Amino acid sequence: MKDIVANRSKVKLSHKARLILLSLRENGPVWTTYLLIYYLSSSISEWAYSQMSLFRKKHNLPGLNSTTMNYEIWRNWDWRNGGEEWTQSTEWKESLIRNILLRYMKTDGRILEIGPGAGRWTETLQKIASYLIAVDISDRCVEICRNKFAGCSNVDFFVNNGSELPFIADNSIDCVWSFDVFVHINVAEVTQYIKEFQRIVRTGGCVAIHHAQKGDVAGGWRSNMTSELFVDIAESNGFKVVAQITRWRDGQQEFEVGKYNDVVSVLEKVS
Ligand SMILES: C[S@@+](CC[C@H](N)C(=O)[O-])C[C@H]1O[C@@H](n2cnc3c(N)ncnc32)[C@H](O)[C@@H]1O
Repeated sequence: MKDIVANRSKVKLSHKARLILLSLRENGPVWTTYLLIYYLSSSISEWAYSQMSLFRKKHNLPGLNSTTMNYEIWRNWDWRNGGEEWTQSTEWKESLIRNILLRYMKTDGRILEIGPGAGRWTETLQKIASYLIAVDISDRCVEICRNKFAGCSNVDFFVNNGSELPFIADNSIDCVWSFDVFVHINVAEVTQYIKEFQRIVRTGGCVAIHHAQKGDVAGGWRSNMTSELFVDIAESNGFKVVAQITRWRDGQQEFEVGKYNDVVSVLEKVS
């Protein structure tokens, strides 16, 4: 919708008027009225979204990205597709696993996943980890995952409060993975998570987090996080930023992390 509205704004008003006249002639008044309603409502929705972003910034509101909102959304999500509705293509998912997940998550390590949902990435993490602990605010997701991985002895699932990990011991985790989760978490809760990672990840351990790159301006109900802010939070909590990945090449193909200008930040714990 954003693209459509942005492209449309490049067409001059005189051309738009001419297109409407042509449409009246070729398609008649009924179809042309629907077209006008569609144009008008999509412009209004884009305008409302940008106003929401500005208002939220000005008044420091959580938008849809508080723990309570996230709980309400994801607890009641229809998980029958296992979260694969967010998989851009089979090639994209396989390539992301090869080029990002397997590159940074340590084989035979103790891995933490934040927000497994229905276990879209958990499957791969469970196979490579010596021990995997996955934590979600949604008791329903935890139940789905517990059933799905019932036969696996190296994995535990916990419900948490959306920003703290009191049941995980200090310096006990080698790697942290989270995809399609931090894009929806507001800055204050992300900061609290990073503080927790500082406590639980061993020195030299790795954290790979998928998050918003430009605040919530790009659509997709992204949180108010930016790439720069994420770096600041990480560096002030004892992490070095190893990479910030927005796209990658795999043979002849090029893939994007997400549709909404997202990024995967890879951190290493240095102190
Ligand atoms: C869009 S789904 C993604 C699920 C899975 N990671 C995937 O990619 O298929 C977001 C998930 O993150 C969980 N979540 C949202 N906010 C969270 C938070 N603050 N802490 C832990 N989990 C959270 C939701 O309950 C949901 O399972």
